[in-house]
Amino acid sequence: MDIGGDHPKLGVQALTVGYGKRAVQQDLSFEVKPGSIFAIMGGSGCGKSTVLKALIGLLRPSAGTICVNGEDYWAGSEQHRADLGRRFGVLFQSGALWSSMSVAENVALPLRMFTPLDNASIDALVRLKLSLVGLPSDGARMPAELSGGMRKRAGLARALSLDPEILFFDEPSAGLDPGSAARLDDLILELRDGFNTTVVLVSHELPSLFTICDDGVFLDAETRTAIAHGSPKAMRDDCKHPVVHAFMNREGSRGSNQTKGDADGSG
Ligand SMILES: Nc1ncnc2c1ncn2[C@@H]1O[C@H](COP(=O)(O)OP(=O)(O)O)[C@@H](O)[C@H]1O
Ligand SMILES: [Mg+2]
Repeated sequence: MDIGGDHPKLGVQALTVGYGKRAVQQDLSFEVKPGSIFAIMGGSGCGKSTVLKALIGLLRPSAGTICVNGEDYWAGSEQHRADLGRRFGVLFQSGALWSSMSVAENVALPLRMFTPLDNASIDALVRLKLSLVGLPSDGARMPAELSGGMRKRAGLARALSLDPEILFFDEPSAGLDPGSAARLDDLILELRDGFNTTVVLVSHELPSLFTICDDGVFLDAETRTAIAHGSPKAMRDDCKHPVVHAFMNREGSRGSNQTKGDADGSG
């Protein structure tokens, strides 16, 4: 095993992912540097979520390797993968909270499942995570009582419960009003700057991409592979590929995708 400190946090080599025999994306290679915010971009249906599923251990790649701190993530046993995966925090689009549990209970759940901590320690950690994301630290409310933005922050508090080295987001600001989306961006930046958390983010919200991402990859639906690498800003300004250029220079992206999410609850 390689324990040197100069590995990328996440190293993807010649990765192909798909369902059954159908490849959704193929021959992807990219590196996510420690403490960076990395974007997976591309049009709807190009395979961003599918790639993310392989990165977090939910979908076995058809080919290629994914290394976490230099260790081949899919080569070892399921147990080993689960151990590595415990260093990940994941926030899906919906926030995915258990609706029958209070916010505090949701945040406490991974701590109860995966740590030997006693109740008092868990309570203290839950309060800490909730205050970190700007929610009332008692966490007494039920998910249905929260607005869309608050629910997302509660999901983030839960994703942070085990102090992840890498945080994965799938369209974190989808469905949020522009103010809530901007606050979520600030929070992601604070996590990177305050805790050196590495962030991998699927997003098509241009304001977020330009504001917070250091690096990224652009996936193409047509050719089913990566057609650009680099920061979203560099892609916007320098990439000549017509698909990338059109995507990065389209008008008024934040807001184009809202109204839907805050309608999915009490938002
Ligand atoms: N569980 C699944 N089984 C089969 N095909 C799927 C599944 N999930 C997604 N797909 C297909 O894979 C392609 C990529 O989907 P997805 O990764 O969700 O794209 P994106 O996140 O970029 O919008 C789409 O054609 C989609 O229909
Ligand atoms: Mg998706």
